[in-house]
Amino acid sequence: MNIKTVGVIGAGAMGSGIAQLFAQNGYTVLIQDIQQDFIDRGLGFIEKNLTKLVSKEKISPEGKDEITARLKGTLDLQDFQEADFVVEAAIEDIKIKQDIFKKLDSITDPGVVLASNTSSLPITEIAAVTNRPDKVAGMHFFNPAPIMKLVEVIKGLKTSQETAEAVKALAEDLKKVPVLVKKDEAGFIVNRLMIPQLMEAIKLYDEGIASREDIDKAIKFGLNHPMGPFELMDLTGIDIAYFVNEVFKSDLPREMKHTTPYSLRTMIRAGRLGRKTKAGWYDY
Ligand SMILES: NC(=O)c1ccc[n+]([C@@H]2O[C@H](COP(=O)([O-])OP(=O)(O)OC[C@H]3O[C@@H](n4cnc5c(N)ncnc54)[C@H](O)[C@@H]3O)[C@@H](O)[C@H]2O)c1
Repeated sequence: MNIKTVGVIGAGAMGSGIAQLFAQNGYTVLIQDIQQDFIDRGLGFIEKNLTKLVSKEKISPEGKDEITARLKGTLDLQDFQEADFVVEAAIEDIKIKQDIFKKLDSITDPGVVLASNTSSLPITEIAAVTNRPDKVAGMHFFNPAPIMKLVEVIKGLKTSQETAEAVKALAEDLKKVPVLVKKDEAGFIVNRLMIPQLMEAIKLYDEGIASREDIDKAIKFGLNHPMGPFELMDLTGIDIAYFVNEVFKSDLPREMKHTTPYSLRTMIRAGRLGRKTKAGWYDY
């Protein structure tokens, strides 16, 4: 792929991080969302991150200005005519993603690869609404995207090997470590392993077996993970863990299904979604 301009859909936690990452690596980036204040908030996150990098002397003030100049917010998907590659990071809803991909299919050049950052939805189902399912792939970044090294590259049923290789090469160009997920079964690699652990952690807490603090300590000091399961959910969004588990309940074979733990449902009802709402399993 000869990529100069990248289109990013969604200026939320992931979209803004992905946009920052591409801009830091020299790409021109268009970032689209449905409301101007969402775009402003996303560009605000990026500004804050870049300012931190300047104060840590990781980038120069001039470097920051150059990165910022490469980023452009837009409300109009039609601007993606200019994009050589698109990564979608809108909310985790199949209907919304299919609607976006249908539009992208008619707006972008037919040779352009369209990727989704979905955590749990089938790439095959997203690709099916386009006339280029061979050029649709998953490009699953981890939060925060500018920092976390892994990128899962996911093949849908019709994704060509050429597309998968091109997305892997792009991830490497962003100085990431790509892994290939050959089939788009729910959860790919990381969430397939992580979600059951998060659900079990909540059940341990619900059953009164240990406190959240001690469960976090056990995983940090017993398995050497940098964060415990409750701290991790607060960082990545309790709603995301909830939704991914709901997808697992409908998509995975019976022996792999996890019922939704009581206190997870309660957190969702209370709107305590983690750091982004300043309250989750812990207060911020
Ligand atoms: N948060 C994570 O840790 C994480 C990690 C990897 C992947 N993901 C995936 O990335 C995607 C985005 O997650 P997030 O955490 O950034 O969510 P978020 O809620 O922070 O951001 C989503 C953004 O998408 C926008 N949006 C909604 N509908 C849209 C539309 N039709 N067109 C354009 N923009 C639209 C919203 O306004 C919002 O700004 C999801 O698919 C999620 O599963 C999330």
